[in-house]
Amino acid sequence: MTEPFDPATLRQLDDPFPRYAELRAEASVVALASGRSAVFGYDTAAFVLRDPRFRSGTLGTLYASMLPPGALRDEMSRRINFLDPPDHPRVRGLVATAFTPRRVRDLRGWIDAAARRLVAELPIVDGTVEVMAGLAHPLPSLVVSELLGVSPERRDELTALSDAITPVFGTSVSAADRDRAAAAAEVMHGILGEEMDRRRTEPADDLLTALVGVEEDGERLSHAELMSLVATLYSAGHRTTRDLFGNGLELLVARDALPAASPDARLIDEITRLATPTHYVARFATEDVDVGGVPVAAGTPIMVFLAAANRDPVVFENPDTFDPDRSGPPALSFALGPHFCLGASLARVEVEAMFTALVERFPHATAADRPRRWHQRGPFRGLDQLTLHVA
Ligand code: HEM
Repeated sequence: MTEPFDPATLRQLDDPFPRYAELRAEASVVALASGRSAVFGYDTAAFVLRDPRFRSGTLGTLYASMLPPGALRDEMSRRINFLDPPDHPRVRGLVATAFTPRRVRDLRGWIDAAARRLVAELPIVDGTVEVMAGLAHPLPSLVVSELLGVSPERRDELTALSDAITPVFGTSVSAADRDRAAAAAEVMHGILGEEMDRRRTEPADDLLTALVGVEEDGERLSHAELMSLVATLYSAGHRTTRDLFGNGLELLVARDALPAASPDARLIDEITRLATPTHYVARFATEDVDVGGVPVAAGTPIMVFLAAANRDPVVFENPDTFDPDRSGPPALSFALGPHFCLGASLARVEVEAMFTALVERFPHATAADRPRRWHQRGPFRGLDQLTLHVA
């Protein structure tokens, strides 16, 4: 009998995928050390994500009870991905009227140019460049700032504040991390509040003006919901996009496949499947549910391991092989169902722009600093540094 799996141990594993394969083979629903349950297979994961009897609202309630009053509690307890019906479809529908595909399309040229500029500025040291600090880290947050229309001089600060909030998404959060996150949220909400006020007197063609308009247009989106949403766009769009790029780049350089890579939709699809940045999301059963033949009792917290589902051999042939020409169902990296990632198409544009800019500037780049040091912060898995030989 092996030890029950504890997701906190993920940070000690250089490669979690063999462990995921064992857990996927163990049962449709696996009992974890903490009393939670988890699913690792594609079909069970898709079932839990789509079935309305599994919800995320309990997480908002848990954060509300765990956090002291203040900006962080307001943000986490109203976060869109912790809302259930009827609030979730209301908020999501309103956001969708402002965060439209046109906005993402209109931003493409800006994103391409920003990626090229950041690549051009990467310092070359002894024939190598480090791409996380100078490219993958700043780009996603700069993009959210540009999308919202936040003043350029406040963008770096918002990136740092959103970083300080990220640790509260873990399964266990230290008091020091929580206090840092709470302080950061106060400052971040202050800045965002000023930006919103400015839009009321000086409307602009940006997402923040559109969202403020939705808030003022008949109180359908409360001010607290709007604040939580805007802060969420930073946190939801930052580390995830950064890590999708970094993990995908590591995958390509490990296979000496970067120089030949043409960053098209199929390549991004396959990277999204194999280099999943958000390893899991959580749901709660609101009633007794049968999941793949295993009864899950009402109230059970259930972790859905997207990264493991993406390598399920039942649906992906040779699942650990990198094959941009493969067929199969979509990867679950952006989830499925009512909480499907609102920024998926934006994230894809950003990752494609970073690959294109990097391959253009350094067509012969190869891996420099293997083995890599992986971090796992809550559900997010990625690299702090990734250095390439470019000369
Ligand atoms: C590679 C990049 C990204 C990944 C892997 C990713 C992943 C995810 C996942 C797994 C969820 C579902 C969470 C759940 O079901 O509990 C989600 C939701 C969400 N994502 Fe993303 N995301 C990415 C980029 C972005 C970007 C760039 C934005 C916006 C700027 C964004 C905004 C959101 C929002 C607002 C939600 C909540 C949707 C809802 O609850 O209805 N994401 N994302």
